[in-house]
Amino acid sequence: MPDLAYRLPSFDAALATLPYATDDVARDETFWDAVRALYPSSRSVINLENGYWGAMAEPVKAMFEHWTDRTNRETTLLIRAHWPQMLEQLRETVAGALGCERDEIVLTRGATEAMLALISGYNRLQPGDSVLYCDLDYPAMRYAMEWLRERRGVVPVSFAVPEPATRASVLDAYAQMLEQHPRTRLVLLTHLSHCTGLVMPVRELAALARSAGADVIVDAAHSWGQMDFDVASLDAPFVAFNLHKWIGAPLGCGALYIRRGSVSAIDTYFGDRDFGADDIRSRIHTGSPNFAAWLAIPAALQLHRRISARAKESRLRHLRHHWVRRARELPGIEILTPDDDAMVAGITAFRVTGQTSSDANRAIAATLHERHGVYTVQRHGPRRGDVVRVTPAITTTEADLDRLLDGLRALDTL
Ligand SMILES: Cc1ncc(COP(=O)(O)O)c(C=O)c1O
Repeated sequence: MPDLAYRLPSFDAALATLPYATDDVARDETFWDAVRALYPSSRSVINLENGYWGAMAEPVKAMFEHWTDRTNRETTLLIRAHWPQMLEQLRETVAGALGCERDEIVLTRGATEAMLALISGYNRLQPGDSVLYCDLDYPAMRYAMEWLRERRGVVPVSFAVPEPATRASVLDAYAQMLEQHPRTRLVLLTHLSHCTGLVMPVRELAALARSAGADVIVDAAHSWGQMDFDVASLDAPFVAFNLHKWIGAPLGCGALYIRRGSVSAIDTYFGDRDFGADDIRSRIHTGSPNFAAWLAIPAALQLHRRISARAKESRLRHLRHHWVRRARELPGIEILTPDDDAMVAGITAFRVTGQTSSDANRAIAATLHERHGVYTVQRHGPRRGDVVRVTPAITTTEADLDRLLDGLRALDTL
């Protein structure tokens, strides 16, 4: 079997150029200059829309190309002979990085695939039960929660997360919804909202739901790699991840977690019979994935560990604070996340007061792009109106964010 721990000599050489993270790594520009040197540079536009997916570092891309070349040359001879064992090793690697066991993880092509398998497969619902979600959840997951009405005969209930959100107001909002809808049996939770960047107190919310007799399914598409945590800390039975946003793996890499003992609550995937009913691998059936992308996961995780999850989280939050603290002083700019480190990481959205339509927010993002060379994105979802999302990467500089601030100060709509 091919050695999945194989690294090109250039991979090791590139990682050797990195210093080690210091205690004050968030402000250690020497460290981040070295990190930035590993990534492709395209400075024509300042990209503050790194939430869609994350660029691979060049050494990871080289490993992806290595595996692309190999799978393309050897095709079925490589995969038929070795894929089952290789896949087991990959599951082991991803489980190790998440702090769980291999039999709790199955790979997917992304978080959507994993989340839809969980929501559609959750089988502990009776007709007349309620399922709960909020305005900040990801659109595809909100649609799936609504579709459970047809699929399971349940009553979907949604609510708007308070603005401005605080830890107490979020906990209180979920508690009230659970109290008002005592037949709630399933709650969708998004660890880090794609819309505003709000980080939910998932562990507490999962406990709250449990005490009300409901399970939670957690969408952790944006948190793993942006924040430093392991899956046990969420204390949730069902969680979906991807590795192509903040872990730095190629596009097409995701993971589905089902806590040991909880697999029977999810139906087998379209009646899968490849694996036993007690085996998580029967809960997703991906078919042929991009083998090379999945084979590049160990390299992506190695770089992620080398930079360190703690360093990435603290740098991203530092960059977020850099622009948000200044933007808060601008009249007419509303910031959608609190300055509470427990409730925010790298992403934060803003709204220009009164500009709540999708078109208005698209126009604001277009102005920032065309006049100031700063790329952001309009997001729809919050009940109180659309927003513009700002997502730095670990390669973003404070000077990049100063350009954003120049753009915000010059907005005609203010
Ligand atoms: C909260 C959330 N969930 C799910 C997804 C979808 O992830 P993927 O592209 O891996 O399917 C996204 C992507 O932006 C997201 O932000």
